[in-house]
Amino acid sequence: MKEFSANITKSILTGIQPSGVITLGNYIGAIKQMVRMQDEFKSYIFIADMHAITVPQDPTTLHENIRSLVALYIACGIDPDKNIIFIQSENEYHANISWLLECNTPFGELSRMTQFKDKSSKNANFYAGLFTYPILMAADILAYDVHYVPVGIDQKQHVELTRNIAIKFNKKYGDTFKIPDVYITKEGTKIMDLVNPLKKMSKSSENPKGVIRILDDINSIRKKIMGATTDSECIVRFDPEAKPGISNLINICVALTGKSISDIETMFEGKNYGEFKRFVADIVIEEISAIQARYQKIINSQELDKLLDENATITRAIAKKKFMLMKEKMGLYK
Ligand code: AMP
Ligand code: TRP
Repeated sequence: MKEFSANITKSILTGIQPSGVITLGNYIGAIKQMVRMQDEFKSYIFIADMHAITVPQDPTTLHENIRSLVALYIACGIDPDKNIIFIQSENEYHANISWLLECNTPFGELSRMTQFKDKSSKNANFYAGLFTYPILMAADILAYDVHYVPVGIDQKQHVELTRNIAIKFNKKYGDTFKIPDVYITKEGTKIMDLVNPLKKMSKSSENPKGVIRILDDINSIRKKIMGATTDSECIVRFDPEAKPGISNLINICVALTGKSISDIETMFEGKNYGEFKRFVADIVIEEISAIQARYQKIINSQELDKLLDENATITRAIAKKKFMLMKEKMGLYK
């Protein structure tokens, strides 16, 4: 079982929604950063499946995605010995805490959340859970007394709301929660779509040829890279404005090999785009095959079940303690 190393004193918590197979962009832009952070912080990482159901989901697909995402994160280098990886819905205390927080969150303050305004304006038949979503997020965070919450800029307002809720609760009922700080994760190198290199490689893209998913078969990955949009200059040179396609492929090389841009430019001086693309395909395939091999070992293993069971027990105990304290402070029976 994981024992956090004694010289690691600061903790972080973050949730990831189980919305389909991750892309090479997610891997390079986000997961590699998380892998670096795991040596510096006690890390709680969970699959936010209860946030996912605030919009309609197909139950079978959702169920598969949850387990698959845990296995993928581990396969990508999130070390289960250094992080507590768990599934939000396996810990019922998140929802319990959320209700107590709902009864301490002004409706007006919740109404200001821009993500809710955006999402609800796109579909008039939204559910109540879409509105109370940030309070569940506050419960996720406040249950664990963490120092930092690493999120993308779009989630900053939700962490600020969490802080406000916690500060007011502490004031009203006495010291109950640690006040967490938001930690805005810089977008790592932005990986662009292979077909349209002017837009970000995205899970939800309509054209599958532009997007590499971590579980794509190896031949199709090679085909996608060999077919990537380039330009007619025939010089491997980094210039995102004039040569977005080639620059994107250079960025992928830099992220996966640790070589610099100029190393790559020098390596391919006088060579054609075909040779360069074969090189890019080889390194992407090497990295992704290793991830896929680890994934295949993990996905159906009993160790994964055991890990999730253990971590559900650990996190339940932590969150239960907080829930009981809140009940006591609020005058409920416990
Ligand atoms: P999303 O898939 O949009 O939910 O994003 C999850 C995480 O992956 C966020 O931290 C994003 O910044 C990052 N990310 C998503 N797509 C890319 C991309 N094409 N390049 C770099 N980072 C990305
Ligand atoms: N709402 C976050 C997102 O969509 C996911 C999330 C849920 C989260 N609970 C959290 C992130 C708690 C950080 C902390 O990305």
